[in-house]
Amino acid sequence: MSEQLLDRSLVLAAVRVTESAAVAAWTLSGRGDEMAADRAAADAMRAALDELEIDGEIVIGEGEREEAPVLYIGEKVGRGGPFQLDIALDPLEGTTLTAKAMGNALAVMAWAPRGSLLKLPGAYMDKIACGPGYPAGVIDLDRTPAQNVVALAAAKGVAASEITVCVLDRPRHAEIIASVREAGARVALIADGDIAGVINTADPETGVDLYLGQGGAPEGVLACAALKCVGGQFQGRLVFRNADERARARRVGIENLDKKYDLHELVREDAIFAATGVTKGALLDGVKVQHGFLHTHSLVMNSATRTVREVRMRRPV
Ligand code: FBP
Repeated sequence: MSEQLLDRSLVLAAVRVTESAAVAAWTLSGRGDEMAADRAAADAMRAALDELEIDGEIVIGEGEREEAPVLYIGEKVGRGGPFQLDIALDPLEGTTLTAKAMGNALAVMAWAPRGSLLKLPGAYMDKIACGPGYPAGVIDLDRTPAQNVVALAAAKGVAASEITVCVLDRPRHAEIIASVREAGARVALIADGDIAGVINTADPETGVDLYLGQGGAPEGVLACAALKCVGGQFQGRLVFRNADERARARRVGIENLDKKYDLHELVREDAIFAATGVTKGALLDGVKVQHGFLHTHSLVMNSATRTVREVRMRRPV
């Protein structure tokens, strides 16, 4: 199946899907309406997927069937064809960022051979991630943030004070932030967007060494698809706030609700990951119109070949 994923048409097709969603979301950026922007992105993504000769099934999507009009978990997309794919997507990662015209919003999608992406409910997940080049097990969700900082610093051969940890800026992360700072490391807070937060650990340019904290579980799978392409380590454990979330997890087939997953359990085979910037961020530029042309900036990566492409699209408005 990996050979199928090497098919160039699937790489280009993936990026065209995220481009469509990003452009649709961008038209609603700064309008203060998160739901409208998300819906526009989802509709555009759905339409783009249905143009493709794939036999796709949404594994990570906009929610369960009764709560999401399109791109719900289990929905079939595409016209059919030789590629049987699991699809994980977030048509608009950063709905609030987009509604407020703030930076770092993305349209994101990953696909992989059927049966290889873990189906997860719309719950939270505790996450830890670092970039490539470290010994396996250098980070561990069951250690304290401070212990992880010290271990990573030792593996990198630097003092803890030279480690930067990216964390979502949420009250629930107060203890993590205190523990990281106690260890002497720097905390880089982000308003939203933990997929990019995780990916940034693999890019030395960003200065981020470690990602820590609780975010959406679906975003965890998408982040793993990206890390599978660029290298790095990830662990995640589902966090349930109530009985309904536990029931949702069981409905999608999760038996051990306390399991600690690593990257290769969330994304079991090779994957293609694509993201297009909606608003300008650290990872990608946003959509813009200049001199009568619409511009987009995307990243598309294939874990089978560890190929990373940056794609700039321009077309007349
Ligand atoms: P949305 O685009 O769905 O709003 O998600 C943005 C995000 O920041 C994710 O990147 C992250 O996983 C999640 O929200 C965190 O959830 P919360 O905002 O509830 O803390």
